[in-house]
Amino acid sequence: MASSLFIFFLSFLTHFLPFSVLSATVLEDLATLTPPPDFATTITTNCLHNPLLRYCNNNNTSSPQDIVEIFRSTIVASHLCNESKNPNCVDDDSFPKIRIHSRPKTAALYLSFDFFWKYCPLTVLEIQLVNNSLETEFPTNVLSCAQVRTIDLSYNKLSGSLPVHSLSRLTNLTRLNLSYNRFSISDSEFLKRFSATSFVHSGLLPDANRYKMKVLLIVFSIVVVILLCCCLGWLCLKRPDYLPRTCRRSNNKFTSAMIDAATDEFSDQRLVSKRDGVDIYRGTLRDGREAKIEVYTEKVSKEKRREFEEECEAVFLKVRHKNLVRVLGWCSSRNLKALVTEWTDGENVETWLSSSSLASSWRRRLRVVMGVVEGVSYLSEQWPEIIYDLDTSSVLLSGDGQEPLISQFKIGDGNNSSTNIFKFGLFLLEMITNLKPDEEQEDSEMRYLEYIRVHCPGNVERVIDEKMKIEKRTLEKVKEAVTLGLMCTDKPPLKQPSFTQIYDMVVSLHESSSRHH
Ligand SMILES: *[C@@H]1O[C@H](CO)[C@@H](O)[C@H](O)[C@H]1NC(C)=O
Ligand SMILES: *[C@@H]1O[C@H](CO)[C@@H](O)[C@H](O)[C@H]1NC(C)=O
Ligand SMILES: *[C@@H]1O[C@H](CO)[C@@H](O)[C@H](O)[C@H]1NC(C)=O
Ligand SMILES: *[C@@H]1O[C@H](CO)[C@@H](O)[C@H](O)[C@H]1NC(C)=O
Ligand SMILES: *[C@@H]1O[C@H](CO)[C@@H](O)[C@H](O)[C@H]1NC(C)=O
Ligand SMILES: *[C@@H]1O[C@H](CO)[C@@H](O)[C@H](O)[C@H]1NC(C)=O
Repeated sequence: MASSLFIFFLSFLTHFLPFSVLSATVLEDLATLTPPPDFATTITTNCLHNPLLRYCNNNNTSSPQDIVEIFRSTIVASHLCNESKNPNCVDDDSFPKIRIHSRPKTAALYLSFDFFWKYCPLTVLEIQLVNNSLETEFPTNVLSCAQVRTIDLSYNKLSGSLPVHSLSRLTNLTRLNLSYNRFSISDSEFLKRFSATSFVHSGLLPDANRYKMKVLLIVFSIVVVILLCCCLGWLCLKRPDYLPRTCRRSNNKFTSAMIDAATDEFSDQRLVSKRDGVDIYRGTLRDGREAKIEVYTEKVSKEKRREFEEECEAVFLKVRHKNLVRVLGWCSSRNLKALVTEWTDGENVETWLSSSSLASSWRRRLRVVMGVVEGVSYLSEQWPEIIYDLDTSSVLLSGDGQEPLISQFKIGDGNNSSTNIFKFGLFLLEMITNLKPDEEQEDSEMRYLEYIRVHCPGNVERVIDEKMKIEKRTLEKVKEAVTLGLMCTDKPPLKQPSFTQIYDMVVSLHESSSRHH
């Protein structure tokens, strides 16, 4: 009823006004047209029939000012109805929607007619002002059309806070679209009436894409962190030498991967020597240091492995002496047991004896023996559990040739002092005779010692290295040294001196040789 009466009014208008109504622009019509004389009566009649008509909704209907405004609003309505492409703007119910898409100027113009919105026709159920570059705040005058079911203001540049309170009063509003604007909101409770698609990029909801990006970023970071952890874990387990020193669990534990890398996967070029149970490699550590890597080839039980590790930790790290090669670390894994020591460029004493001119001096040879004695005395006092290989090939000379270095030692069980003294005796004799037990033969050491004993003391010159130039008065001292060597190698060890005695004797030999010099 209400709308039909309004339409009655519109048709009255088209009928009554000159035919030019819709051919001129709305502004021209607003400027030129005036209400017909009986317009007030028409309104009053309309309101009598239907007091709910919006323009009946105030007490001043009869005031001249309102009459003009109502008249002007009917002019705007007739134009807007056509602009919005409603099918027939004079028919019953034929102004259901205001629809201005992508026409910024037109939209802005119609929005500026406050009197029109004040008397918004009750037929209008849909307001669409899409993509019109509107840059104001929310156009609150459209809210006067309290009966609307649809408001679409998407694709504008509307900003400011959303008039939530006024919007909430539109009880019939079921479709709202504020997407692509820049609104703000203080109470987002209202938004729950509508689906999230109503507020795409409206400034009112957290941006879905940004949200997705955030989620992606978080997932990505988690993946990166996990990968990093894996890498770090792998490094810790396999290649701790790639970690900064302070981050390593131990600077002395080598993993089999580290030994692998240092020896180029145990390449033959790196292999220096092969003895029973031990392969010796010249390896390069990741920090560039050269190292001697002794790989024990025998299979060991888990128990033994743990023992080895504990001993290494307990002993080798603390063994420090100028005449002992420094232990850098060890490897004790399921498939590899190895000891890593510093690499010395110096030759071994065996080569030195046969090739260096310095080896012709008794005093020089004694100096080497002196260093070895200092080393073994230190070991016998501090670390009696250590046994060592002491022959002219396993004692190296330091890079500058000044100090002998005992290079092969390991942890034995129990007290090894008798064996160690025996070994020292052999070494001392090798230093004098420049001869070694022939390892090919059975009982080689016994035969070797026997050979020396036969000539001692009467023919001792026969066993002394010819290369050594000895004066008469030194000869006595060399003989004393041979006797000492034989005492050390006495078997059963009845006449074996103690390391303290050995030390004192060698010191006195050394001093007398320096004096003679
Ligand atoms: C109705 O609007 C269209 C544009 O949408 C316009 O071309 C036409 O002239 C208008 N009709 C009248 C009768 O004014
Ligand atoms: C109109 O005036 C009457 C009395 O004259 C009053 O009762 C009514 O509330 C008024 N309505 C409005 C909308 O102001
Ligand atoms: C009613 O009309 C008079 C005179 O035109 C005006 O002064 C007054 O403000 C109007 N009242 C309302 C509520 O519009
Ligand atoms: C908005 O209008 C412009 C022209 O004014 C047009 O090029 C563009 O495609 C329109 N965008 C949408 C989303 O309708
Ligand atoms: C909402 O719609 C119903 C039914 O169409 C109508 O009776 C009611 O008046 C409308 N509400 C408003 C505020 O226009
Ligand atoms: C609002 O408009 C946007 C852009 O055209 C569209 O993606 C969205 O689906 C619309 N939402 C509703 C509820 O119509």
